[in-house]
Amino acid sequence: MNWQMARRAERLNPSTIREILKVTERPGIISLAGGLPSPDTFPVAAMQDATSRVLRDTPREALQYAASEGYGPLREWVAAEMAHHGLQADASQVLITTGSQQGLDLVGKVLIDPGSRVAVEAPTYLGALQAFAPYEPEFVALEGDDDGPRPDTLDTARGARFAYLLPNFQNPSGRCLSAARRTALVDRAAEIGLPILEDNPYGDLWFDTPPPPPLSARAGDAAVYLGSFSKVLAPGLRLGYLVAPKVLYPKLLQAKQAADLHTPGFNQRVVHQIIHGGFLDTHVPTIRALYKTRRDAMQAALQAHMPAGCRWQTPAGGMFFWVTLPTALDATALLPQAVAAGMAYVPGAPFFPQGGHANTLRLSFVTATPEQIHTGVAALAQVLAGALRAGHPAALPVPA
Ligand SMILES: Cc1ncc(COP(=O)(O)O)c(C=O)c1O
Repeated sequence: MNWQMARRAERLNPSTIREILKVTERPGIISLAGGLPSPDTFPVAAMQDATSRVLRDTPREALQYAASEGYGPLREWVAAEMAHHGLQADASQVLITTGSQQGLDLVGKVLIDPGSRVAVEAPTYLGALQAFAPYEPEFVALEGDDDGPRPDTLDTARGARFAYLLPNFQNPSGRCLSAARRTALVDRAAEIGLPILEDNPYGDLWFDTPPPPPLSARAGDAAVYLGSFSKVLAPGLRLGYLVAPKVLYPKLLQAKQAADLHTPGFNQRVVHQIIHGGFLDTHVPTIRALYKTRRDAMQAALQAHMPAGCRWQTPAGGMFFWVTLPTALDATALLPQAVAAGMAYVPGAPFFPQGGHANTLRLSFVTATPEQIHTGVAALAQVLAGALRAGHPAALPVPA
């Protein structure tokens, strides 16, 4: 049969990262490539307990079809949590989603027409580019500096359907927007009538001080906020949420109904059972402590081993270091050598909507032990130093 694909199917691309991860899953490779949370943080005992309780107390309700909006008490919990972060929203504005990844898809479905402009950071979360791409947008890359996208670059996105922004410990760059940058971005976006889609899966994973309030707290009805339980509980639950302005909510809900009727009610009840008594207040600090130790190990390893000319910022939270190599080095081309040397990373280029930036890469510090981090970074540094020696004189740093 000669199947004729829809035009949008051509826009569905295999995730470059997943393809890379396949190679790096070979035994013996120290993978600093994945974007997975550490399984050591999964609350297995609490899950066992909550699962038993839900099956004991409300088995029929938990296993039945449920409301598309989500489980009422969980929506209330999200609204209260948001208020705690300065975002005033009613539980009726909360839509429980099948991971925040579904939130990206629903927003894309409701807001993007073929040819619509969508502003994204450069670099940005690859999964968002993938989610939006089938709706055929034209991506506008927001230029930035070390503090994230610059407010004046929003002007290049006038008329766009929305600006997709990741304020906290961004995937992939790890950077966190300052309070001043947040204010400036939200205010400029409001001046030019540009709505904001805020994605915040990493905000709770801060190491020393919590990040400033979310963009949506200031933007109000001009923003949709996406949250997730993947990084504070477990990604296998596929549980996230969005908080939407009242005018947008019905359409997002209809899109959700069409997509999957509702997010598994069983998972929602189990998670509510776990978190309603304040479990996250004691659980999340244990994740922060573990990740901070590993962040420190990677910082020390990078400092000890990386050749001159490589730059990075120390992330104040989240899961990633973003490394910029001397300009003549191509992280995609060097990956096979790194894998041969026993380690893996993710090249940075796919995170840029318009490509380029071949001399960047992302390192995750949360799933490897400090020893593995040291060994992996040392192996990477050797590959880079070798490439620099082997004929990339242009890559050598210009003396200050
Ligand atoms: C920035 C960002 N947004 C959204 C997601 C999707 O998360 P989930 O669907 O598990 O909530 C991820 C996952 O890594 C992410 O890094």
